[in-house]
Amino acid sequence: MKTRTPHAVTTGVVVRSLRPTDRDDVQSLHERMDQRDAYLRFFGARPKHLEDLAESLCRQDRTHCALGAFVGGTLVGVANYVSPVGQSDDGSPSVEFALVVDHEYQSHGIGTMLLSRLVEAARAHGIERMTAEVLAQNTVMLEVIRDRGWAHALRREGTTLHLDLDLDLDDDAQAGGPSVRRRSAAM
Ligand SMILES: CC(C)(COP(=O)(O)OP(=O)(O)OC[C@H]1O[C@@H](n2cnc3c(N)ncnc32)[C@H](O)[C@@H]1OP(=O)(O)O)[C@@H](O)C(=O)NCCC(=O)NCCS
Repeated sequence: MKTRTPHAVTTGVVVRSLRPTDRDDVQSLHERMDQRDAYLRFFGARPKHLEDLAESLCRQDRTHCALGAFVGGTLVGVANYVSPVGQSDDGSPSVEFALVVDHEYQSHGIGTMLLSRLVEAARAHGIERMTAEVLAQNTVMLEVIRDRGWAHALRREGTTLHLDLDLDLDDDAQAGGPSVRRRSAAM
């Protein structure tokens, strides 16, 4: 099992859209990821050109959305979605999302908070479906998903679980609401 070493977060967590000026912070967050977190996020080694990844995460348009979580001005987490390549404009708007939280700040509820805000942003942008690929060994991410009441939207395919959420149906109210959480990012 992963060793968890929570950092003592004393200030509040601010979540906002990433901007082009956040590019260096986004790159630094991804450079700080340990090998296991990188593997869970990218299903392998982290991308070689993190500056390109950072630039694309800081670009907000119809097909990209990224939120950052900041603690005392330091970027400690990113949640983003992108439209799949080749998705037709007239199809049901669907996006694929991913999350990462700085290892030092994990298990404080920041990932859960980012995911909630990303769902809100997707709804506000008229997105109808959100998907994600999660490795079966990624127990923490699967717990975050199950805590939201979304277990029914998970389908296992070999070593990966595919999450397919219908945002009209899979909201917190209809899913029974997120389970009561022991910790909160609102510190
Ligand atoms: C997955 C990830 C984003 C979660 O972020 P986080 O801020 O740690 O998540 P939270 O603190 O909101 O929730 C973690 C939950 O996982 C569960 N959890 C905590 N420790 C756990 C452990 N050792 N094993 C299993 N589940 C655990 C708990 O339910 C916890 O909720 P709780 O704190 O209310 O009890 C973060 O771990 C991460 O960046 N991982 C590496 C990248 C990755 O896997 N990204 C997902 C790809 S889609």
